[in-house]
Amino acid sequence: MCAAGTQSRKDLSMQQEPQTNDSKVFTPAKIAGIELRNRIIRAGCFEGMSPHSTPSDDLIEHHRSVAAGGAAMTTVSYCAVSNDGLAFDHEMWMRPEILPQLKRLTDAVHKEGAAASVQLGHCGFFANKSAIGKTPIGPSRKLCLFRYSICREMTKEDMIRVKEDFGKAAKMAIYAGFDAVEIHAGHGYLLSQFLSPWTNRRKDEYGGLLENRLRFPASVIRHVREVVEEDYPVIVKMNLYDGFKNGLSIDDAVEVARCFEEAGASALVPSCGFTARTSFYMMRGQVPILQYVKSEKNPLTKIGMALFGRFIVKEIPFKELFLLEQSKRIKDAVKIPVIYIGGVCSLDNMNTLLQEGFEFVQVGRAIIRDPDFVKKLQAEEITATDCDHCNRCVAEMADKGLVCTSIQKELKKKEYKS
Ligand SMILES: Cc1cc2nc3c(=O)[nH]c(=O)nc-3n(C[C@H](O)[C@H](O)[C@H](O)COP(=O)(O)O)c2cc1C
Repeated sequence: MCAAGTQSRKDLSMQQEPQTNDSKVFTPAKIAGIELRNRIIRAGCFEGMSPHSTPSDDLIEHHRSVAAGGAAMTTVSYCAVSNDGLAFDHEMWMRPEILPQLKRLTDAVHKEGAAASVQLGHCGFFANKSAIGKTPIGPSRKLCLFRYSICREMTKEDMIRVKEDFGKAAKMAIYAGFDAVEIHAGHGYLLSQFLSPWTNRRKDEYGGLLENRLRFPASVIRHVREVVEEDYPVIVKMNLYDGFKNGLSIDDAVEVARCFEEAGASALVPSCGFTARTSFYMMRGQVPILQYVKSEKNPLTKIGMALFGRFIVKEIPFKELFLLEQSKRIKDAVKIPVIYIGGVCSLDNMNTLLQEGFEFVQVGRAIIRDPDFVKKLQAEEITATDCDHCNRCVAEMADKGLVCTSIQKELKKKEYKS
């Protein structure tokens, strides 16, 4: 079952592009059993290109172009491990029927000399009720204002089923040729909901003290580790802090990181925020209310966003490397590689991060803005991104598919002038 992944992993280190820039950023390094051609990984960014939860040709082309643009690995964003883990329309859930398309995607990425990872998760209490057709599940019964829904508290049977779904999804990912999986245990998704006192108010051995709140997420990671090969990369994205009072704190996150390492994680990606409550916290920058209102299909939410959006979604100014100080604490607490994410804008940023001891960096918006970002840095054509963090890509991703509409407009203007 693992043959496809193993074969392609061996090929990857053979297909490096000639180097023009001598920064360590462009040197190969390993995560568990896989060697990546450089230190830059495209972060998981929801593409909105899987209608009927099935990967489209656009999704394949999107990731092929990121691979052709020089990233060492591209992360196919949020793929639910089961139907009831779907957060948005056009989102994949892992099942045998989509494996042929996923295999085409990983083949296309491998042909460009890059590796492919897939982000596996479950969105718990903020599942889209109309997409899943039943009541969402979560650690505790809770009202979700993001969806105007109330979830039901998971039973122990639910926990066993979801844990096994993670394992099955990881096996299918390997079968589809993915070189790594990224377990989503951050951003207020289900595993992060178990860690957060705001969403986990259970009175049993899965709630209360951090040790208890860790029990379910750690069991999921341990299970995934058990079902994949020993050296298969199991990357875990987690929160440094949730971003509000009564959420996970940075001191807790250090313990979480140690526990995930012990459970079998190959590398950690520390991020922050809670999609259903502080949706821009993990990104920072402008909150594009107008684009949100335009893209929203539910008339009630549309009106609500237009009237109250400015008050509901807090704008936090963007800063380069905005998670550096907190991420250093995670790096110092574990021995496995820590992949930095959050506001990586330039080669200088990347050099700083590698000097600080991070082994890889994940880049989101700079590569959305320009899929050739890495290639251009390496060729010394540019030194930094020109993304201004307007975050329109976030507001429009579910409606138009992941793209930087600002750059498209700029290109059209240029075409018109010439
Ligand atoms: C359009 C968009 C979609 C995103 N979707 C996801 C997602 O599906 N899963 C996830 O873990 N993070 C998602 N993120 C967050 C990014 O992975 C990353 O944490 C954040 O953008 C900060 O990195 P950056 O400053 O390099 O963009 C998304 C970000 C953007 C801009």
